Amino acid sequence: VDDVPARSAEEKADPEQAVIAVNGELLNWRRYTWVMLNKPAGYLSATEDGRGATVLDLLPQDLQRQGLFPVGRLDKDTEGLLLLTNEGGLAHDLLSPRHHVDKEYYVEVAGRLTEADCRAFAQGLSLGDGLECKSAELRLLEDGSRAHVTLREGKFHQVKRMFQAVGKEVIYLKRLRMGTLILDENLGIGEYRPLTKEELEKL
Ligand code: URA
Repeated sequence: VDDVPARSAEEKADPEQAVIAVNGELLNWRRYTWVMLNKPAGYLSATEDGRGATVLDLLPQDLQRQGLFPVGRLDKDTEGLLLLTNEGGLAHDLLSPRHHVDKEYYVEVAGRLTEADCRAFAQGLSLGDGLECKSAELRLLEDGSRAHVTLREGKFHQVKRMFQAVGKEVIYLKRLRMGTLILDENLGIGEYRPLTKEELEKL
């Protein structure tokens, strides 16, 4: 502990202040756990659900025991970046509309997207049910049936409802980014990893 050998199990140290090493390896202790999951389709963004598998089922027992919960929700059929943590305060801030954390998705639709759709997204769509969307950025990929869309809010099924409002049905949806945090392309579907120190600091 701080370069002094600990000689007794009774010794106390503050893991947030002291530099602690075990057999020469630094102990990377953290009060809170943050993991990035590449969510597969077919899993609910919930901690428990009587009706089906949840994203917690994709994590090993030791992480499940730490009281992690998903930071926001992806629909059951949506894939991609989902954060899980047990740090309620920061999770709440990330989701709060006041902080405008933008979220970027890759989307495939039935039909062809047009420049007019891009303008409609940029102007702020009105959904039939009364929701007035903030300006969103729609970037078309080559063939027009695929795009990247960036939102600064996250209402229930919002991406799907926005595309529906321009007459296009979403057939595949994947979240790529939340604020500064980009889905690690080395994570296969269903795989997870802890956030790095740098990622957490930026968050
Ligand atoms: N918008 C949707 O419609 N679904 C999601 O899972 C996320 C954003």
